[in-house]
Amino acid sequence: MKKASKRASYVAIAAAVSALAVTAHAGPDEDQLTINEEIEIVTEAPAPAHLEGVVDTIYSGWRFRSDETQAMQMDDFDNPGLVGVESAQAAFAAVDGTEGKACADCHNSPEDLAGVKAVYPKWNEEAGEVRTIEMQINDCRTTRMGAEEWKYSGGEMTDMVALMAFVSRGMPVDVAIDGPAQSTWEQGKEIYYTRYGQLELACANCHEDNWGNMIRADHLSQGQINGFPTYRLKNTKLNAVHDRFRGCVRDTMAETFAVGSPEFVALELYVASRGNGLSVEGPSVRN
Ligand code: HEC
Ligand code: HEC
Repeated sequence: MKKASKRASYVAIAAAVSALAVTAHAGPDEDQLTINEEIEIVTEAPAPAHLEGVVDTIYSGWRFRSDETQAMQMDDFDNPGLVGVESAQAAFAAVDGTEGKACADCHNSPEDLAGVKAVYPKWNEEAGEVRTIEMQINDCRTTRMGAEEWKYSGGEMTDMVALMAFVSRGMPVDVAIDGPAQSTWEQGKEIYYTRYGQLELACANCHEDNWGNMIRADHLSQGQINGFPTYRLKNTKLNAVHDRFRGCVRDTMAETFAVGSPEFVALELYVASRGNGLSVEGPSVRN
């Protein structure tokens, strides 16, 4: 980032300090993540080419959490997000809708969809749009099963997304940002750098300029989404990506975009692309 704009960011952060209290720098820790002593998770990787000159190394949010929180994600018996995965396994096999079909009728087992979560959001040629995995799942439900849409970030949907992440754990995030997805990606990038709210803070002011610093009692990460859905100790449930975006925008005291809105779909594609090279690690555990 250029010096002048960087200085401007700090001016904004400084202006917000009374409300947000940014203090002392302490980078990510050195801990490494292996789940069930079996699945190696890449929590640190060289930044993708599009971040050249901005960020050198990308880190999973796991690296910024306390030892206790980290430990909950190292063994599936201790990970409360696995309850959601289990209920989605049952939903995957359950018939729903007027066509009398279950996910399993067409996709056999969740494991058959291994690798899918790593490449979403993704351009869908037939629909002519970038789709999040939630949009794709709802499309299967409505057009192929004759079932009702699930609420975009409701429990059933978030559990199913957690299952999709679960079967992709350890695989590298690899969303495409060129070709037909490029204009959506550009839109997401613009949102990432736009200052919102009374505090006039962009995502970048916190997650690009201040990661590693403490903000209130929280250790600021790079705001990566490779760990979603995320089980948060704060609200004791699995949280969808767009709900996290909403929370962060609200913290800047701004009106937020709606869950599932084109703006958040674009932002998700962009934020996902900043994590290209990290492992899928959902469902993760965060505070
Ligand atoms: C009647 C068959 C059918 C049913 C039932 C069905 N799907 Fe699909 N699903 C498809 C087809 C066909 C595609 C590929 C569509 C495409 O690529 O445009 C697909 C694509 C997907 C994808 C994206 C795969 C990729 O590689 O991009 C996901 C994820 C998915 N389905 C999940 C589900 C879930 C979860 C359910 C149950 C809630 C479900 N599907 C029910 C037929 C079905
Ligand atoms: C005022 C500072 C601030 C701003 C602005 C902000 N966030 Fe955050 N964000 C936080 C804090 C604090 C956390 C919790 C600690 C952490 O994981 O970094 C967080 C967490 C996150 C996480 C969860 C990371 C994980 O590992 O689970 C994501 C994703 C995220 N933010 C994305 C965004 C996006 C996208 C924007 C812009 C729309 C944004 N944030 C704006 C402060 C901010």
